[in-house]
Amino acid sequence: MSTSPTRIAVFGAGYVGLVTGACFAELGHSVVVRDIVGARIDALRRGEVPIYEPGLDDLLARNSERLTFTLDVADAIEGADFVYVAVGTPPTYSGDADLSAVWTVVDELPVIDRPCTVVMKSTVPVGTGLRVRHRLDERGLEHVGYVSNPEFTAEGTAVKDFMRPDRVVVGAFREEDGDGVAALHAGIDAPVVRCDVASAEMIKLAANAALMTRISFINEIANVCEATGADVVRVAEGIGLDRRIGPSFLRAGVGYGGSCFPKDSLALKQLAANSGYHFQLLNAVIEVNELQKRRVIGKLHHHLGSLRDRNVALLGLAFKPHTDDMREAPSLVLAGRLLAEGANVSAWDPVVDGIDLHGVRMAETVEDAAAGADAVVLVTEWPQLAEVDWSAVAQTMRTKIFVDGRNMLDQEMLRGAGFAVEGIGRAAAGGAA
Ligand SMILES: NC(=O)c1ccc[n+]([C@@H]2O[C@H](COP(=O)([O-])OP(=O)(O)OC[C@H]3O[C@@H](n4cnc5c(N)ncnc54)[C@H](O)[C@@H]3O)[C@@H](O)[C@H]2O)c1
Repeated sequence: MSTSPTRIAVFGAGYVGLVTGACFAELGHSVVVRDIVGARIDALRRGEVPIYEPGLDDLLARNSERLTFTLDVADAIEGADFVYVAVGTPPTYSGDADLSAVWTVVDELPVIDRPCTVVMKSTVPVGTGLRVRHRLDERGLEHVGYVSNPEFTAEGTAVKDFMRPDRVVVGAFREEDGDGVAALHAGIDAPVVRCDVASAEMIKLAANAALMTRISFINEIANVCEATGADVVRVAEGIGLDRRIGPSFLRAGVGYGGSCFPKDSLALKQLAANSGYHFQLLNAVIEVNELQKRRVIGKLHHHLGSLRDRNVALLGLAFKPHTDDMREAPSLVLAGRLLAEGANVSAWDPVVDGIDLHGVRMAETVEDAAAGADAVVLVTEWPQLAEVDWSAVAQTMRTKIFVDGRNMLDQEMLRGAGFAVEGIGRAAAGGAA
């Protein structure tokens, strides 16, 4: 198979597909991105980026000569050496991954009579690659290769993560197909993990599960800190300096969200259950996270009693800073619970311009969201929140309660501004003011 110049078709112009397409174009490959949403493709053709991902607009503009966008399958496949699948795999009601978009791509592939490799970027259950392999064979596409090349980028830093990854994982049935996908990454300085397809699929699910486990672990430590008088920020620092543990993913908060962790944990739990295994640890990780989102409500009760007719401002809605992704954002659960308790909810976010919950008032500024509030809850640690004049904000509030759901701001500073302050796991820092 030729390695240069290569033509790559990417199916799916979402967070992963666009970053993959733009980064492969940056590496010198010729890329066509296909989606089924006309408005998305039209916008991309006009040079508009339909999602918020730092650096992506520059990358797409810089590589516009090597990047095209289409709705048409035949256009996309024409001359393609690689067909990347980057479509969504959301959860079904059972918790299993919904692979219908993946199957559509596989079934829509036209008869290809030259060397070509289908590469799975979407996160899929272990065993999917084998099923796709069988489907391709049934369709007379035995010569078309299949490779699992899972994605580990994080929204908000996806471009950097793609160009400077910790590793590239390439799982293949045939050595030469894996060689081709590994070669696509020439120019990226990272170890390449070569393995079988099932192991590559499991590496993705297990990596996410490990990160979620750390988050739920530190959140449980935080809860015990609150009950016993320790400060989880100091505790995390103290354990993170242990080289066997390391500092990342040890920030206590209101729990994880986003398009990956919640659905991938359910998919792995379900995959295990379908195979007859009860994954106890993962079940606990998921349950801890669900409870963690709701602990903020308890903190508000502690200060305000009933929340009926209380005004609560949510600061930050996206599931984390530097993205506009609201999928499974903890803010959705918080807003829903507050509304259910009869509170009036206002919200601010620098990039999310609405929340799909009836009754939440969107504010243009932090100051507007907080004016007249009984409590503000910092939900997403947007850096803009460090620049706010909190003394001025406190003056406009009815009751001055600050729940810092990410332990982002200096508690002494907030107390100086007049707030009663609650963090997460910060009893020693004077949390229950
Ligand atoms: N978002 C992340 O940061 C991230 C990170 C790692 C892995 N993943 C995985 O990557 C996959 C994609 O995630 P995403 O966040 O980019 O999803 P997304 O919802 O942002 O994008 C999916 C895109 O696929 C398009 N699509 C659906 N059917 C199609 C078809 N037949 N042909 C072409 N396009 C089609 C949709 O219109 C949509 O634009 C998922 O499996 C996800 O778990 C996501």
